[in-house]
Amino acid sequence: MRLRRVLAIVGVVVLLLCTVCAGAGVWIWNAQVISTADQVDFTRPLAVPPLAPSRMVDGRRVFDLKAQAGEHDFGRGATPTWGFNGGFLGPTLRAVRGEQVVVNVTNALDQTTTVHWHGMHLPAEADGGPHQLVQPGRAWSPTWKVDQPAATLWYHPHLHGETAGHVYRGLAGMFLVDDPATSVDALPHEYGVDDIPLIVQDKKFDGDGELDDSASFLGGVGVLGDTVAVNGTVGPYLDVTTERVRLRLLNGSNARSYEFGFPDGRRFALVGTDGGLLEAAYDLDRIMLSPGERAEIVVTVKPGERTVLRSYPQALETGLLGDRFTGGADTLDILQLRAAGTLAPRPAVPQRLVAIPKLNRAEAVQQRPFKLSGHAINGKQMDMTRVDAAPERGSVEIWKVVNNDGTPHNFHIHDVQFQVLTQGGAAPPPQLSGWKDTVYLPPNVTFELIMRFSDYADADTPYMFHCHVLYHEDAGMMGQFVVVPPGGQPGVIDHASHLAHAGH
Ligand code: C2O
Ligand code: CU
Repeated sequence: MRLRRVLAIVGVVVLLLCTVCAGAGVWIWNAQVISTADQVDFTRPLAVPPLAPSRMVDGRRVFDLKAQAGEHDFGRGATPTWGFNGGFLGPTLRAVRGEQVVVNVTNALDQTTTVHWHGMHLPAEADGGPHQLVQPGRAWSPTWKVDQPAATLWYHPHLHGETAGHVYRGLAGMFLVDDPATSVDALPHEYGVDDIPLIVQDKKFDGDGELDDSASFLGGVGVLGDTVAVNGTVGPYLDVTTERVRLRLLNGSNARSYEFGFPDGRRFALVGTDGGLLEAAYDLDRIMLSPGERAEIVVTVKPGERTVLRSYPQALETGLLGDRFTGGADTLDILQLRAAGTLAPRPAVPQRLVAIPKLNRAEAVQQRPFKLSGHAINGKQMDMTRVDAAPERGSVEIWKVVNNDGTPHNFHIHDVQFQVLTQGGAAPPPQLSGWKDTVYLPPNVTFELIMRFSDYADADTPYMFHCHVLYHEDAGMMGQFVVVPPGGQPGVIDHASHLAHAGH
């Protein structure tokens, strides 16, 4: 009798617990999906970052960039932010291939930072990685000769352990490289008119309207926001006045990947990726970009119509749970396109764009494996004094990169633009057929990346390679390489910068 009563009570308790757990499970499952489809009021004109003024001094093109604290209106009053030459983000730098540029970076923040030129081929000491510190109140003036195909590059801080916070608060901008030999005149190219930079970032706000950079629940990728800002504008619309518009998409987010497309399923022409235009325009209805990647697309509109650039659920391929907890199941409205009643004509997108000299497997003198898992690469966390690879100047190498855990990672290499030789043993898809500097790594798929380390050698100053999910990068998922002269050995990496950082 007593036993039966005890059993009954235990049964009821177990049942209650199960119900609560199941309820919590359903709640957590559902809470991990954000959809803002058709819910964004596109009431603010898209801000277009101004072109940075420059001057010619002794034959060199000189820019000024000042990192500073300020505030920005995300539609909820003044939010404290950081920016270059302003309160949030920075101007678009633009230079022509062959020009020697100088960027005077000054730091008006109360913290040390750095400025890295993502995608740029340059000497290591100009790279702006974690060794080129700019202390508060100090300046840094890297100079290099721009020498690579026309491309949409960008710049952002790279202070070891602090990159996520600095970028999230607003330190980022675009750097466009022009080169008549690798551009196509028939593509829209009037900046701010039919050629529009789009820095896409997700933000999260706390109860006081301040930026909240706390890591998202269970995802393990850092901050995922529910509010999209494009060039800092929340709920942006773009007045389109031409038949075709070129969108230079930059995923400037800390952790989120986007799958861009349009609700009416319209197709667009993918014309460029990270390091320049493609050989051929590809007709697509979706393009995925992981953090740090860029794509140039040309969208055709009809007079008077409105449509929305939207990000769709995507296959991050980390499993049903993994994708869901890392933003892969989200739908986010990004930007409304408002076509004018009369549109200025623009030529059709040519099928052939530019020639891309193919790097050949037979040219490679070295193969190196890079396995990403945990917050490490090849089992090692970032060490400011360790050199992980020392390719020779002028040599071609193949880097075999694989994501060996169930978390979304991507892979970015400084100094070079690479080509994807194979993805999982097969030829890469069109969106990976051109110059790339960052590539998304679905788990357990090996990517063979081929690259040439041309022009610059400096045995004592490293470049970085890392996962561009900034939370992972900061946590140590980064390594260093130096380019040595033929036959050379890596030098000793001065870790004074490391100590200076530790002491700030
Ligand atoms: Cu965009 Cu090493 O970074
Ligand atoms: Cu990662």
